Amino acid sequence: MTRPDRRTFAIISHPDAGKTTLTEKLLLAGGAIHTAGEVKARGAARRARSDWMKIEQQRGISVTSSVMTFEREGLVFNLLDTPGHEDFSEDTYRTLTAVDSAVMVIDAARGIEAQTLKLFEVCRLRSVPIITFINKVDREGREPFSLLDEIAEKLALDVAPMSWPVGMGGQFEGLFDLAHNRLSRPSRDNIRSFEGDVTQVTGLFDPKLDSLVSADAIARLREEAELAQAGYAAFSPESYQHGDLTPVYFGSALKEFGIGDLIDALARHAPGPRSQPAEPEPVSPDDPTVTGFIFKVQANMNPMHRDRVAFMRLCSGKFRRGMRLNQVGTGKSIAVHSPVLFFARDREVAEEAFPGDIIGIPNHGTLRVGDTLTDGPPVTITGLPNFAPEILRRVVLKDPTKTKQLRKALDDMAEEGVTQVFHPSIGAQLIVGVVGQLQLEVLISRLEVEYKVDAALEPSPWDTARWIASDDSEAMKAFSSNHRSALASDRDGAPVFMAKDAWELGYTTNKHPAIRFTATKERA
Ligand code: G4P
Repeated sequence: MTRPDRRTFAIISHPDAGKTTLTEKLLLAGGAIHTAGEVKARGAARRARSDWMKIEQQRGISVTSSVMTFEREGLVFNLLDTPGHEDFSEDTYRTLTAVDSAVMVIDAARGIEAQTLKLFEVCRLRSVPIITFINKVDREGREPFSLLDEIAEKLALDVAPMSWPVGMGGQFEGLFDLAHNRLSRPSRDNIRSFEGDVTQVTGLFDPKLDSLVSADAIARLREEAELAQAGYAAFSPESYQHGDLTPVYFGSALKEFGIGDLIDALARHAPGPRSQPAEPEPVSPDDPTVTGFIFKVQANMNPMHRDRVAFMRLCSGKFRRGMRLNQVGTGKSIAVHSPVLFFARDREVAEEAFPGDIIGIPNHGTLRVGDTLTDGPPVTITGLPNFAPEILRRVVLKDPTKTKQLRKALDDMAEEGVTQVFHPSIGAQLIVGVVGQLQLEVLISRLEVEYKVDAALEPSPWDTARWIASDDSEAMKAFSSNHRSALASDRDGAPVFMAKDAWELGYTTNKHPAIRFTATKERA
């Protein structure tokens, strides 16, 4: 049997660019909004499901919306949600390790914004190919050329315009598909068509166009589109798949315009499941052995049980419900009896999953972010980094008898990737490190509600941290003894240098060329 093909992707954007709206419209256009909440399952699986629904209500989060699936023309699309907060967490970064491609949504009036840039950099680390969707063309926006130039410049990417707006804002008359010579105009009668009225023409100078849009608009389209085609790179599937070029589509998520083109682009150009970097060798999706890795863990708010769902991206093989998988590293064998399968509409489909799919595995804290599971020989998927925290805080316990609970709680949350915990080499107070402010709020609230630990976070003398390593053990020893007060170890015992500010970090780095200071650490 041939493997059903998958497109596993995420949407990256700055808040308010339209990610939520686009997600909804993609699901609608796919015609199949179904989530884990709709999985028809029996027995344990059903109980697990209802538990999760309770948790979702309590926490105001959605496990089921973490992965959304739709189908179109025989292809299965898995859309992984990246949290849409101003702040990000490592969770966001790691979700991007589980996708094969990304859609970058840009607000036509705002261009590339801070968070788009950060998320883009993570995609670049892994050469994740990106399709760009310039959203909100129904509103006054910036000139298409200025937007394209900005993408090319800020992201150091070739841009290949695939469509061109015929006017914007109040003057918006449609989109011209440059690759297929098609004009789509907003359709008044068929609001849910996702494409509007489509007219096939022979090219930009087909006289048919003159009768379809205003004289001003057509003159402008011809001039701009010609310039654009001459001035920007032509689309090349290879450059796109290597992450060197982004095809750019214009549209309006709100008005459901350009959505069909975007899905077609994903279907036609976005890669299916890619080989995953791993030791001793990469895992190919064609490998019959079942292999996957945990990229996210979501924990329960209910202090009575410590259930969690670990999200596993399947990299190879055909997964079947009830399979036993080995947790590489610990040697534990885990029977996956009640997986949360996100794509299942009927039971038969729910019994199995293929490379590119995401499986939710309920467990009691056994599974950690970064774990590889397999039914074959030991293999470790690599490339799931810890990121150097941008905020460091000292944890102060209000009730000193709760030290043990605090350590347990911080360890648990470090396991989930909510926070990092550092043990300073001098002093007993733990330091927590996070990538974004929001994580601190989550941390304090969970300490209180889940672990009944009343704690406060105080400023720490440090501002940033780096993992340190060296091939020269003498140099490392000397460095460590000279910087004892700024050293700590992370949860795995790896040494960390904490700096007061960027200047001190730069100074120390330059002064000690034998020491490597790294902003990311791959799990051991
Ligand atoms: P996000 O998830 O990226 O944060 O963005 P979201 O989809 O929530 O969209 C942010 C705002 O932009 C929303 O307006 C949404 O309606 C609007 N929007 C999204 N796509 C388009 C588009 O193509 N054209 C126009 N004109 N607007 C768009 P809001 O006023 O903040 O919220 P709402 O009251 O409309 O829900």
